[in-house]
Amino acid sequence: MGIYLDNAATSYPKPKVVANAVYDFMINNGTSSGRGSYQKAMESDFLVYNARKEIASLFNFDDPKRVIFTSNVTESLNLAIRGILKEGDHVVTSSLEHNAVWRCLKTLEKERKISITKIDATKEGHTNIEEINKSIRDNTALIIFTHASNVLGTIQPIKEIGRISRIRKIPFLVDAAQTAGVLPIDVKEDNIDLLAFTGHKSLLGPMGTGGLLINCEYNIEPLKSGGTGGDSAYEYQPDYYPNKLETGTLNVGGIAGLLESVKYIKSEGIDKIHKKETEITKYALEKLRFVKNMEIYGPKKSDDILGVISFNIKGMRAEDVAYVLDSKYDIMVRAGLHCAPSAHDLIGTKDIGTLRVGIGYFNEKEDIDKLVYALNKIQK
Ligand code: ALA
Repeated sequence: MGIYLDNAATSYPKPKVVANAVYDFMINNGTSSGRGSYQKAMESDFLVYNARKEIASLFNFDDPKRVIFTSNVTESLNLAIRGILKEGDHVVTSSLEHNAVWRCLKTLEKERKISITKIDATKEGHTNIEEINKSIRDNTALIIFTHASNVLGTIQPIKEIGRISRIRKIPFLVDAAQTAGVLPIDVKEDNIDLLAFTGHKSLLGPMGTGGLLINCEYNIEPLKSGGTGGDSAYEYQPDYYPNKLETGTLNVGGIAGLLESVKYIKSEGIDKIHKKETEITKYALEKLRFVKNMEIYGPKKSDDILGVISFNIKGMRAEDVAYVLDSKYDIMVRAGLHCAPSAHDLIGTKDIGTLRVGIGYFNEKEDIDKLVYALNKIQK
């Protein structure tokens, strides 16, 4: 494996304990959870419950039953958005959202005639929260914000936005795809009603895992209907958590890995993880500046961003640079729009896209040195 700098897409490598837990489950258990009363199935059930408990405590949440497992953050966001919004509702969101939010809203604009207010961030991805307050209407039924942009890395003021949503009594949904596992998130302190997360990015878990924390009493209609392992004679979806929103056989092998990754993060400490990633991000921002013809987008202060840096070399196509980085220097970065087109509207790169470096816990400063060396050669 060469130099992996695409951690904003998915983290790599994973801690060994994560891979071992998936392997161990498949080899030594392999049963469905919540479906059988024999011993192995009870162990599987216990594992899933433990994972709910560990995840709840990571986000300072008290009720593990309201940790709903999904297959990724896209499903979590669809579940929350489609579960809450009704015909004619209004929603307030940011201009930094990933297509997981944006396409879902645009679909509901057609299907349910919802209206959308998009709060424009600055070129650096900062949001003026007063704009949010002003945009709320009588029929505003949901406020959705990403915790950090996957294009610019800019961290959003979710606590303050959450405060507004509490005062105005509107559910607040946070997309923590880029932040869960690297920034502290406290659903109580941060006034979060619905927290959508994925397991495979900074939580360092397997792909195919994710979830939604329901820290509110707003009604959420299920996205799917089907078997829950209980109440089988009842013809409708049960109305209690997690069964109301969680149906079909769970990815218990993946959840076993996620349980270990969350334990790993807790034992390392989120502060330590965040500090290391910020240090490398700061180093990268300093070094990249000196590459000739370099244009870096987003905040220049590493404290304002996560380990995500978007840039271009003037006069060169992002895809071409990424191709040479990979084929000649064995360095992996992402190029394009990163599934978040409206963030590119802000920085004027919708036609050309950007190169994106995603720094993770296992990167070192030497990785940045090698990237900068290669970019210097390429731009010549
Ligand atoms: N949404 C992921 C990214 O930002 C895949 O790359």
